[in-house]
Amino acid sequence: MQACGLPSVRELLIPDPYINEIMENMRNQLSFAPLAKIETELLAVLAFDTQTDKAADAKPQPVLLTSDPAVQTAAAPVLTSGEFKAGVNDTALLHSPAGLAAKRLLLVGLGKQAKANANSVRSAAGTAVRFIKPRGIRELTFVLPDSALLQPGPCARAAVEGAFVGDFDPDTYRSERKNQSVESFTLAVPAKADKIAIETAFAEAIIIGESQNFARSLVNEPGNKLTPTLLGQRAALMASEVGLGWEVHSTEKLRELKMGAFLSVAQGSAEPPALIVLRYEPKDVTSGPVLGLVGKGITFDSGGISIKPSDKMEEMKTDMAGGAAMLGAMRAIAQLKPKVRVIAVICAAENMPSGTAQKPGDVQTAMPFSPDKPGKTIEIINTDAEGRLVLADGLTYARQLGATHLIDAATLTGACVVALGHVNAGAFSNDDEAWAKFDTALAISGEKFWRLPLDEEYAEMIKSDIGDIKNTGGRWGGACTAAEFLKVFVEDTPWIHLDIAGLAWSEDSKPYIAKGPSGVAVRSILEWVRSY
Ligand code: BES
Ligand code: MN
Ligand code: ZN
Repeated sequence: MQACGLPSVRELLIPDPYINEIMENMRNQLSFAPLAKIETELLAVLAFDTQTDKAADAKPQPVLLTSDPAVQTAAAPVLTSGEFKAGVNDTALLHSPAGLAAKRLLLVGLGKQAKANANSVRSAAGTAVRFIKPRGIRELTFVLPDSALLQPGPCARAAVEGAFVGDFDPDTYRSERKNQSVESFTLAVPAKADKIAIETAFAEAIIIGESQNFARSLVNEPGNKLTPTLLGQRAALMASEVGLGWEVHSTEKLRELKMGAFLSVAQGSAEPPALIVLRYEPKDVTSGPVLGLVGKGITFDSGGISIKPSDKMEEMKTDMAGGAAMLGAMRAIAQLKPKVRVIAVICAAENMPSGTAQKPGDVQTAMPFSPDKPGKTIEIINTDAEGRLVLADGLTYARQLGATHLIDAATLTGACVVALGHVNAGAFSNDDEAWAKFDTALAISGEKFWRLPLDEEYAEMIKSDIGDIKNTGGRWGGACTAAEFLKVFVEDTPWIHLDIAGLAWSEDSKPYIAKGPSGVAVRSILEWVRSY
């Protein structure tokens, strides 16, 4: 395969302490032994609150989610004391619990019984991991909840994913950094459980958790350490490791493909762009859909000539989070091997102001779908609306490569953050069938996306006086006009657009996840792909 600057050795690449740590250190295993006999630094057991009375003075009724009598006895005093209410991600720690081989017993709350599900187990596992990390404990055993209300398979998967996600910390460039990564994670499973189902869920979850963290480690990298070229190298290395086909192209190929929109963003930077193509082509699948995953990979977004204010500009190193999500999803797809063909196209560039940068008022010609047809012309109103420009050509290219269904992910608009905050990411679709599959995927991934409208009247707002369309439709409905812009290049292909601007980076830590890159969308995209 052809490449720009293919690295032959790992040492050529930017260091990724996190990935090296987790791949080399974390041992994962299942245990079907009786809980009392498990020798471990810490045994984590879940509880939910069965109190249904909503009155303010109604006492919480925490119930442990294990039938093990030894654990029940050891936890009884703290449960009756009222100190531990089993609220969402509440913790209580007991040392030298009587009757257990474990050195410590940690209770973790799932909240109200009626609301507890596999996704609460995910955050509880993350909470247990983040509880032990700063305390210098490097090993834990997490007890799969034993309750008729919680399905063992999905809970096992969620627990392992949650543990991986909880283990990630973003402080990779601290010179005195101590590796506090968990060395050993054991999932303790009731002996009566369906072993095959649990083993499958467990193995899948390791792949998914690692892949989400792979995406997070990329988003975490600063712009000087992860240029478009280096992102291309990272993608190539990952693809080689997991057996994906790959190509990484740069300026010359973009010119050949007439990617005028993508090139217009890259032209202001000294860093060349990278067009990253990954292919998952299972041998026995020669017909059926080809899923196209398209990611925005702006490794730094200064705004260009329409430069951004300096406050929080450093966060624009995360403007490749959509591309990273696609790389994370592809990493998992390669290993989970769904029976469907998948192509990923990631458009990486740096958006910079300079003497060669594009200017407001410039008109660019996007990539034509077929060489004999002209490309759409775009009037640049604001050089900071660059994501839709690189995606326009990325979507067209994915279709040209044969994609029959498209999904894109991008930190696309501040307007989406204004609308949905840091709670839900935005989603758009021109196809109810594709959307229904995505909606089902969300129930499995536990991620929050909220569908926003496409509408002919939004499309009207991006008509240009001088050319076909303009790259902004003004302030109002900014997330929707951006989606309409992309829709022009999707044409009739079933398509989902994910605007993850508000969720790619969290400014606050939570009990189950560090602040910083979230890895949002990796799990949902993966499940969507697996639904075909
Ligand atoms: N990368 C930004 C969007 C963004 C904002 C991501 C906040 C993460 C957090 C995008 O390229 C951008 O600058 N969008 C502009 C579009 C506008 C000029 C039409 C925006 O949202 O302000
Ligand atoms: Mn921008
Ligand atoms: Zn941007």
